[in-house]
Amino acid sequence: MNVSSLLEEAKVVFGKTTDFVDVQLMAFKPWEIVSITVVTLVLTHLVYNFVFDHEKSLSQRLKLGFFYYVKRFPIIRSIVEDKMKPVLHEVSATKLFPLKPGMTYKNVMPYVGKSHTSILREVDEYLSLDTVDWSKGNVSGTVYGGDPDLTLVASTMYHKFAWSNPLHPDVFPSLRKMEAEVVRMTCSLFNGDPNASCGFVTTGGTESILLACKTYRDWAYSKGIKKPEMVIPISAHAAFEKGAAYFKIKLKHVPVDPTTRKVDLHAMKQAINKNTCMLVGSTPQFPHGVLDPIADIAALGKRYGVPVHVDACLGGFLLPFMGEAGFPIQPCDFSVPGVTSISADTHKYGCAPKGSSVIMYKSTEFAHHQYFVSPDWQGGIYATPMFAGSRSGAIVAACWGTMVHIGREGYISNTRKIISTARTIENGLAQMNNLFVFGKPEMSVIAFGSMDFDIFRLSGELTNKGWNLNTLQFPPSIHLCCTMPHTKPGVADRFLSDVNDAVNTIMQSPKSKPAGAGAIYGMAQSIPDRTIVSSIAHGFLDALYDTTPFARGENGKA
Ligand SMILES: *Cc1c(COP(=O)(O)O)cnc(C)c1O
Ligand SMILES: *[C@@H]1O[C@H](CO)[C@@H](O)[C@H](O)[C@H]1NC(C)=O
Ligand SMILES: *[C@@H]1O[C@H](CO)[C@@H](O)[C@H](O)[C@H]1NC(C)=O
Repeated sequence: MNVSSLLEEAKVVFGKTTDFVDVQLMAFKPWEIVSITVVTLVLTHLVYNFVFDHEKSLSQRLKLGFFYYVKRFPIIRSIVEDKMKPVLHEVSATKLFPLKPGMTYKNVMPYVGKSHTSILREVDEYLSLDTVDWSKGNVSGTVYGGDPDLTLVASTMYHKFAWSNPLHPDVFPSLRKMEAEVVRMTCSLFNGDPNASCGFVTTGGTESILLACKTYRDWAYSKGIKKPEMVIPISAHAAFEKGAAYFKIKLKHVPVDPTTRKVDLHAMKQAINKNTCMLVGSTPQFPHGVLDPIADIAALGKRYGVPVHVDACLGGFLLPFMGEAGFPIQPCDFSVPGVTSISADTHKYGCAPKGSSVIMYKSTEFAHHQYFVSPDWQGGIYATPMFAGSRSGAIVAACWGTMVHIGREGYISNTRKIISTARTIENGLAQMNNLFVFGKPEMSVIAFGSMDFDIFRLSGELTNKGWNLNTLQFPPSIHLCCTMPHTKPGVADRFLSDVNDAVNTIMQSPKSKPAGAGAIYGMAQSIPDRTIVSSIAHGFLDALYDTTPFARGENGKA
């Protein structure tokens, strides 16, 4: 058959089809055909948008809508309000942050200013409110270094740089040098190419992560992607969800393996599409302290041309020293092809005072999408690399002082102490009856749960014994994040023996329900309407700034 006879054939088929359509539509007037076509097109477009073109999935929106309308029934609303009242009382300032007898809040500033000495006296009164002693290793995470030596270094640096501001490098070139050195020293730890890698000192892990999200969103825009999406494991830090919300990036959560707690790579691959602007892996992830398979995630990123962010906020200042400390791990830095950015918190295991972290990029190609420039502002050409304008130079200087003071040898020794303490605790917990450890923690966080009793009862018992652990949800679990204070002699043994005693107490009535904070946490997980959980959290956030003598709501202020 040649081309012209094929064309003839096609013409006949086309003619038959159009004749058929004409006959079918003969009953309609031309205006009817036009209107039906337009209405159908518009409806299809609307339905498509409703179902697919949205930051939240259809099922999420249906659920939200369902609870929204159900709660509009007066009876249901009053039941919900009745149930909420005692819970909101639990998260009020009077309940959570009681003052000492005789103490009051300052609601207006003193008219006559106070002297240095009288302020110091007053500050001691404030400090008397703090009863948790982190320096004895009773608290999970929170304070990572806290050595008196470091306090001296950091406070001296604060003192010298109290009035400095990195926004004015011409006035403070000393600080610019320090900041650039903090970034370069950190890039070197992560095998960044000295000629290509770059980074920035931010105010903390959250800002580092938000910047990565913003950078990849704008990178995606520059590639013509109109609706960027991020693909992250459910175990990734909440700061990514915050970034998705702030920067209008669609969030695609992928599950983790229920046993290893590492991201399900197959699900991650399935979630990637032409709109994907970033993949994330954590080293380790916060909840259960396990390392995601960075080499595999980075290989996916390379294969599909998607940037890969490694969240080393928590592990950043342990990872580069693991090998030399005697605990070798898989490579998860810039030496892994496909890794394009890394966040590492100097204010966690870097042991610097709070308020510093480093976001690093493999190359300036990405970093330039982080910058903001206003070439036309009346105040001058305004260019900043990150969210803040003016920033604290003192924190940057204190961070520099801390890193230089501890040094590579110090970090290796810290890592050795912290990881051996964590392994001691992990082994001890794994040997106890009625408890199990999640996954195979390779770093400093050990998460545990129980098949035999409600794990939040254990956190309650341990709180009563003077410990302060992290409570986790989906599944219910608790974790201890080991820091330098936990490496002091006797702390690990004391912890294990307290857990053992608490479990023995609990097993006398394994089916009982938890009380207090544990009860709220357990309940919060079982509420299907997550907006109720959010409003409990709003109550907590309100309480942080409450200076009224009575909890809001109790004195009619609501
Ligand atoms: C702590 C942490 C962060 C960032 O937290 P910040 O409180 O903002 O410093 C990010 N990712 C992980 C895994 C973390 O543990
Ligand atoms: C960095 O650049 C310098 C000068 O161009 C070059 O000599 C050096 O080999 C480069 N280093 C790396 C790691 O690429
Ligand atoms: C720290 O924990 C221990 C339990 O091992 C407890 O005895 C001690 O009172 C706690 N300290 C504080 C300040 O809570």
